[in-house]
Amino acid sequence: MRLEGKVALITGAAAGVQGELMGFGGAAAWLFAGEGAKLVLTDVNEDMGRRAEAQLREHGHDAVFARLDVTSEEDWEAAISLTMDTYGRLDILVNNAGTGGRLRLEDTTEETWDGQMDVHAKGAFLGMKRAIPEMRKSGGGSIINVSSIYGLVGSQTSTAYHAAKGAVRILTKSAAAQYAGENIRVNSIHPGFCRTPMTNASYQDPTHYDALLQRIPMGRVGQPQELAQGMLYLASDESSYVTGSELVIDGGVTAQ
Ligand code: NAI
Repeated sequence: MRLEGKVALITGAAAGVQGELMGFGGAAAWLFAGEGAKLVLTDVNEDMGRRAEAQLREHGHDAVFARLDVTSEEDWEAAISLTMDTYGRLDILVNNAGTGGRLRLEDTTEETWDGQMDVHAKGAFLGMKRAIPEMRKSGGGSIINVSSIYGLVGSQTSTAYHAAKGAVRILTKSAAAQYAGENIRVNSIHPGFCRTPMTNASYQDPTHYDALLQRIPMGRVGQPQELAQGMLYLASDESSYVTGSELVIDGGVTAQ
């Protein structure tokens, strides 16, 4: 029970129905619940989020769902209020919500640029801004910002996504430096290529998928559960001296 007594809010956690392909947020929800955490699942996809919430509760876990668009400060305020009203504390925040966008620089519209910066960078910023005051009240906390290997290195496409994930990486270090003295740890996690609802459609194209596998030293894509294990480490007290760090989970892609 590595998270016993802790309350975790996870964004982008709707894809968390057992028997279906999960996202990182959904996989983390199940892993965290199994380790004793109480959960606030959030997402813009209300139908799926409610299904995940119901299934977790059927399995005896404490879970509530809140519709939270991470780009809206108003939504954040409501979700944090729900967390405090339901459980009375907040210990773990996973800023995981995201969307993809595989465009080269000259094909990237201003709208695409703003959308990527909003969901990734602004979303993590607003989440931290609203969660930190509550974490302070209970003596500390752990924030996990989901960046990407695309926040560390460039590629042929995904221009705005790279920029937004890079922003998440350094925003994490800024927050880590500011709040370390209050026992609020902030780390980023950098997944490589993993099969989730977000990527699954593009992996159906055999040419794209084979080219992708060539880039991965381990020769396979990752599973959401393998990412969730890293989140669990950062969420738990086992990482009590870890803040401002970057946890890369990528099958070796950025090792070469
Ligand atoms: P996923 O398939 O679980 O989809 C992300 C979730 O975020 C969806 O449920 C979606 O409804 C939600 N979402 C989108 N916009 C939102 C908003 N404005 N407010 C609240 N929720 C919103 O995704 P996956 O693949 O598990 O991705 C999770 C995170 O990991 C994302 O930030 C993604 O960029 C990142 N990532 C994913 C990789 C992969 O290979 N799957 C690789 C590296 C990073």
